[in-house]
Amino acid sequence: MYMPSNRGFITDGLRRSIGDTMGKEYWIGDVTAGSHDAKEVVLKGWVHRARGSNKIWFIVVRDSTGHVQCVAKRDVVGEECFESLRNALIESSVEITGVVEPTDREHGHEVQVSSATVVGPVNPDRPFPITESAMEDSDGGETEFLLDNRHLYLRTSRMTTMLKIRSTVFGAIHSYFRDRDFTEYQAPNFVAGAVEGGSTLFEVPYFGKKAYLTQSWQLYAEAAMPALERLYTMAPSFRAEKSRTRRHLTEFWHAEMEVAWASNDEVMEHGEGVVRHVASTLLEEMSEELEEMGRDLSMVARFAESEYPRMRYDEAIEILQSKGVEVEWGQDLDYSKEKILTSDFEVPHFLTHYPRVAKPFYHRPDPEDPKYVLCHDLLAPEGYGEIIGGGERTWSEEEILERIDEEGTPRDPYEFYIDIRRYGGVPHGGFGLGVDRLCTWLSGAEHIREAIPFPRDSRRVTP
Ligand code: 4AD
Ligand code: MG
Repeated sequence: MYMPSNRGFITDGLRRSIGDTMGKEYWIGDVTAGSHDAKEVVLKGWVHRARGSNKIWFIVVRDSTGHVQCVAKRDVVGEECFESLRNALIESSVEITGVVEPTDREHGHEVQVSSATVVGPVNPDRPFPITESAMEDSDGGETEFLLDNRHLYLRTSRMTTMLKIRSTVFGAIHSYFRDRDFTEYQAPNFVAGAVEGGSTLFEVPYFGKKAYLTQSWQLYAEAAMPALERLYTMAPSFRAEKSRTRRHLTEFWHAEMEVAWASNDEVMEHGEGVVRHVASTLLEEMSEELEEMGRDLSMVARFAESEYPRMRYDEAIEILQSKGVEVEWGQDLDYSKEKILTSDFEVPHFLTHYPRVAKPFYHRPDPEDPKYVLCHDLLAPEGYGEIIGGGERTWSEEEILERIDEEGTPRDPYEFYIDIRRYGGVPHGGFGLGVDRLCTWLSGAEHIREAIPFPRDSRRVTP
């Protein structure tokens, strides 16, 4: 279970490395954990809520580590200080000095204020626009009003919690790959050709020519595969997705990996491995935050501990057809179908062996039956659907030319890619994991927009 080992917000290491230049010494999370009982602290944070009378003023102060109530009495702090606190509106920044006292009330601790200053006030003509009632109407940050005020919405408890979960997910993905001797590798974001089909390419003017924003790191990662053999990245990918769904962004964070000499099975082992590692890291480090998001921890434990079953595409089509879903063999599965398929899954499932016609040219045809490709999608349960797409790559020159030509794709932008096969091609494979989708699912959120600070979709590039 959760151990607050990383919750001493000022560690000795930090104190040693930053020492006297540290702008802030006391953290509310440490105060409410009981580290400063009966001692004087200087709290630096923002006014979350306030109420009181002529004589006594109660201010709940927030910082990045928690909330605590501060009690200011007019006859203790003096006239001027009391009035300035009383006029400090929600989200004013404050510096408060006082002594910590354990109480039976909310947060378990209170600070008896001795002095205070308002650092950055809020103008009464423009009070903080995000009120409790706006939040209640919001359904997890979904209303246009909250999206318009996203830069301020980031400070709310729900979003702050999500951002911490997200940071832990990023850290866990890095540690999974680094612990297994993968090299982190960066590919360009301006590219000359599609990876995942032309229909979702973002075109950008490029000095009188056309370039595109990359849909995936993969093709340029394959170029480094003979150099590094095991490589990964986490970077944004771009897709001009016109439809706004609960799982599509136009700019999303993509964790991708590539391994030389690897089969589809070996790549799937890593896909399962990294997702289980992220789930168990969240349980260790973020269980309180997951509960705040309303996530049942036993579900996350199941995703961390279970093996993920594997099923061929054909079997998934049969299941869908038996449920009365209209689906034809040869189609890639869109969200409406994955949602039905995964709604009664209890753990993620791999779908393998999609029809060749459903997947881009780089997927390797199955030598046992070239109607299919050696690929996989990992589908998250509970109706969430695809979080990983990957597989073995077409790796001989002859086969890649055949696949490019059968797609009707011009060869020119892919000459570098074909060269990888011309000079010592080897079997290899990899996958891409949608990190925002992973955060959405593991935290139990409704919509992918909840899982990224500034979501981008076909209607929105602001704020
Ligand atoms: O299945 P996709 O399109 O696969 C690729 O891009 C491969 N080139 C990856 C590789 O083998 N290196 O995308 C991979 C994952 C999807 O499973 C999904 O989780 C995520 O990227 N993804 C998106 N996430 C949010 N918004 C979008 N519009 C997404 N498109 C894909
Ligand atoms: Mg896919």
